[in-house]
Amino acid sequence: MKLPERNVEIFSPISPSMLADPYSVYRHLQREDPVHWHEQLNAWIVTRHADCIRILGDPETFINDYRKIGEEAPEDILGLQTLDAPEHTEVRHLLIEAMRNIDMPAWIEDCSRVADELLAEVNLERFDYVKQFNEPLALRSMCLFFGIPHFGDEAKFHEAQRRLVLSMDFGLNPDLLEPGVEARRYCTSVLAPYAINPPPTGLLAHVDFGRTGPLTGYVLNALRQMFVAGFLSSSSTLSCITRTLVERNLLNLDEPLKVSNQVYNELIRHSGAVQVDTRGCAETVTLGGKEILRGTEVLLVPAAANRDPAVFSRPDDLDFTRESNPHLGFGKGVHACIGAHLAQSLHMPVLTQLSERYRLTLAEPPVQRPTGTLRGLNHMFVTARPR
Ligand code: HEM
Repeated sequence: MKLPERNVEIFSPISPSMLADPYSVYRHLQREDPVHWHEQLNAWIVTRHADCIRILGDPETFINDYRKIGEEAPEDILGLQTLDAPEHTEVRHLLIEAMRNIDMPAWIEDCSRVADELLAEVNLERFDYVKQFNEPLALRSMCLFFGIPHFGDEAKFHEAQRRLVLSMDFGLNPDLLEPGVEARRYCTSVLAPYAINPPPTGLLAHVDFGRTGPLTGYVLNALRQMFVAGFLSSSSTLSCITRTLVERNLLNLDEPLKVSNQVYNELIRHSGAVQVDTRGCAETVTLGGKEILRGTEVLLVPAAANRDPAVFSRPDDLDFTRESNPHLGFGKGVHACIGAHLAQSLHMPVLTQLSERYRLTLAEPPVQRPTGTLRGLNHMFVTARPR
């Protein structure tokens, strides 16, 4: 990839060149300017593993609740991703407690049945893995987890998710923000009635709304964040890692691929969808030799940290024998992904079963989604030949 001339902003995640290959830009920044000031985003871009770890491990300095640095926050965004201790801790504990009541083996079995049903409906000679399999599976897996029969109108749900994922890049294109805000309101409006009339099973059945008191609004927003992340992060990741496997012909080997923990974690490290996490800086500090002033925003790039040669040998290689793999694909620290075990419990058997039953090959080149914060695909037409 040709890198831009000096003074041209190199970190432009929704430019065609970075959509095609963000990793050479990450490597360049890691080498030349690991804590990089981005004029348009008005934020620092942090690409080295050690610096990302430092930020994620210090939630008092690097905060999620921007009200502490004088920014306004609409009530409906205040949930897990946008609160700090003590409210964040309370809301997170409440949700983790509710999650403990879910019968995970039954959920995994239900999801596996849904995967079978979806595959039974497609033309195996040529189908869109993203739109006909992965996204409907992610939506239904979350409905099952939440204990709700459906998330309103399916077409409306997918349009809302499209707007939400595009809006994550609003710093680079402010026009993307408002449609995302509306989509967020729509998602809350679907989930809110369940706080009053919970379903008999699933996560919503186990959140004790009688005990949430003044936190009720935050809990509801956190549930929306979970549903959205459980759909968007999960489906985007499954698209990205399946693409990596299919492009390397690894789902077309004589021996089916067994997606173990080690294999899955290497796929997340190498091809994870989450590119950027954000924090606000609550105290002036020095990071990578740069003075980060109180009140500025920091964008840490786990996808860059995950290929940092200071931590991972041959970082661009997909190496299923890699033993030490301290990747940041699910974050780290108090805001680490609350749904990581769900994603893993869904993706590992789905990929393994797919590989045991079919030989999967690309029917057409995949179509990249034009999103930088959360990479993903719009389409990937594949052929599945029964073994
Ligand atoms: C492979 C799929 C997934 C990936 C790669 C992923 C990745 C991440 C990452 C990197 C973070 C940390 C963000 C930060 O530090 O700013 C995070 C947080 C979060 N994730 Fe996930 N996630 C996935 C699936 C899920 C699922 C299935 C759920 C819900 C069921 C979920 C819900 C959340 C929530 C609510 C947070 C915020 C946690 C907090 O701030 O306390 N994610 N995720």
